Amino acid sequence: MLRAAMALRKFHVSDTPPPVNGDAILQRRQAKALIGGSIAMRRLHGTPSEIGGTFILDPIFRAADLDTLRAAVDPADARPLVVEIGFQLGEFAVAFCQANPGVRYVGFEVRKKYCQEADALAVKNAIENATFCLVDAREMLREVLAPGTLDQLLVFFPDPWWKPRHIKKRLLTADFVAEAARALRPGGRLLLKTDVPGYADWAQGVMADDPHFDVARLAHPGAELPPTLRERRCHFHGYPTFAVQATRKPT
Ligand SMILES: C[S@@+](CC[C@H](N)C(=O)[O-])C[C@H]1O[C@@H](n2cnc3c(N)ncnc32)[C@H](O)[C@@H]1O
Repeated sequence: MLRAAMALRKFHVSDTPPPVNGDAILQRRQAKALIGGSIAMRRLHGTPSEIGGTFILDPIFRAADLDTLRAAVDPADARPLVVEIGFQLGEFAVAFCQANPGVRYVGFEVRKKYCQEADALAVKNAIENATFCLVDAREMLREVLAPGTLDQLLVFFPDPWWKPRHIKKRLLTADFVAEAARALRPGGRLLLKTDVPGYADWAQGVMADDPHFDVARLAHPGAELPPTLRERRCHFHGYPTFAVQATRKPT
């Protein structure tokens, strides 16, 4: 029933992005879309999370955590680096880390409760290669990732933000794809999974507009990775899912 209502919902697209007249406007637009506001403003006026946990970092408010995050993404470390945005309860994170112990996994999540749940799951499963960051990934990735150092950027079932006035809140914007192009190494990939067909089409278009990527819809929507919680729920109810992959070109 809920699903039928969702199917009737229109996924709005805007083919006329707001004009950008200079860096200041671009930065203001990006900051407005951030969850919780810009990192600089939060450092000035925000309240530290007081979150604790084995794998959890609060890189906005704790300088030591920011240093730990920088070490986790250090380009001098030869292990592949994989970033997931919106890990929620950490189901995928833990399964992925178990299957890939030689990979550095760094997850970003804006909700404290989810960070704690994911941390508990990782501890329970004796994971050793995960880092969970309580922060909007978009600005933090710009702050800590050196160019051409990321192997995979994973975005699984992001909030669709259906309405026209919410389009600016969507994760898969041209700015985000440009940031992915900066951070990914040649041959690295930005991978999106979604159960909203309009989001898949729209994101595929946004990715394809960036000249740094070869973009393809994957025939196997699971992309041969462990399923996320939402993905498992979709499979359970028989709903289709979609995967779009943007592979970083060499130049
Ligand atoms: C719809 S849920 C999908 C959860 C999970 N990836 C899955 O497939 O089951 C989207 C998640 O992304 C998180 N999120 C949204 N925007 C984010 C951002 N900019 N940075 C980090 N996490 C974000 C939300 O808090 C939420 O947990």
